[in-house]
Amino acid sequence: MSVIKGYKIQGILAKGGMATIYIAMQESLKRQAALKILDPKLDATLLEHFLDESRIIASLKHPNIIPVYDVGRVGIHFYHSMEYLEGGDLEARMSEGLDPHTSLEIILELADALYLVHSKGIIHGDIKPANIVFRSDDCPVLTDFGISKRTELLDSTNSQSNNILASPSYASPEMMQGQDFDQKVDIYSLGVMLYEMLVGEKPFKGATHAEIVANSIQQSIPLLPTSLRAIQPLLDHMMAKDHEERIGDARMISRYIKKYLRDHPNLSKAKIDHQSERESSNNGEVVVEYVSQAKKQKAITSSNTLLPILIVLLSANVALAIWYFII
Ligand SMILES: Nc1ncnc2c1ncn2[C@@H]1O[C@H](COP(=O)(O)OP(=O)(O)O)[C@@H](O)[C@H]1O
Ligand SMILES: [Mg+2]
Repeated sequence: MSVIKGYKIQGILAKGGMATIYIAMQESLKRQAALKILDPKLDATLLEHFLDESRIIASLKHPNIIPVYDVGRVGIHFYHSMEYLEGGDLEARMSEGLDPHTSLEIILELADALYLVHSKGIIHGDIKPANIVFRSDDCPVLTDFGISKRTELLDSTNSQSNNILASPSYASPEMMQGQDFDQKVDIYSLGVMLYEMLVGEKPFKGATHAEIVANSIQQSIPLLPTSLRAIQPLLDHMMAKDHEERIGDARMISRYIKKYLRDHPNLSKAKIDHQSERESSNNGEVVVEYVSQAKKQKAITSSNTLLPILIVLLSANVALAIWYFII
């Protein structure tokens, strides 16, 4: 099959609502590439946005951001070709289970990539495990800037359209409620992924999209297992429902995790068996506690700036507080 000149399609990698991702041979360079071809039945605005998506990605050069080779239109087909990533996506890896060390390293690298994305005035807008794909050397790569936005173009109309497209389990409360938003929506989603990787389940659940959204707006951030409690202040400031209390600079996440990994050289590199952890948590071996809304609200200070909040929270743990002042 050769829909796009120069590429010989070898198979389908994934089929989403708006596009199909193929594995293809780029004949000129004799290399494999991933081809994203949009459903030609989509309306013209979405097709145009796709070209924007490709240009946005192409402007970002980072080891953890997907390199785009080419973008174009052949007849009714809009497409872009990109590096073929052989290692599968994070959604698949999460279902097999990830160890805490690997999970933190993945978040660290993604935070680094997000810092570049945000510093260029771009919001990814759909950070979730299916949009993180691995190279064969296990390097995580951020893909699918399908609903990304340039910050200067944001208005409430845009937030409404994102409201419909973003995944409810990972989307921030302000995005889900159609309010104005900024790059902090990506930090929130990364926080949800951090929790999910460390605990093995999503922080807010529900039988329907509406229930997930309602729970993520109303319920407090669940606690991490006791063995990982030193990461709780970071998680709380990534997933803060209050925009003012959420981390805005993704570099703070990388620094926190680097420091944590340095301080915990013996952190388990063994996969967490989430099923047996959930069972053993009943025996008191692993405690995944859930704090009540009232208790949580008491813990959140009313300060308007992030720095004092982090210092207040981190000072609960002397080692972390010292770290904060030296870094
Ligand atoms: N460059 C790539 N190499 C290998 N697999 C990819 C690549 N890009 C995407 N995929 C796979 O295809 C899936 C869908 O791609 P994505 O760009 O997220 O499309 P959609 O807009 O349909 O979500 C991803 O979840 C991933 O499993
Ligand atoms: Mg996707």
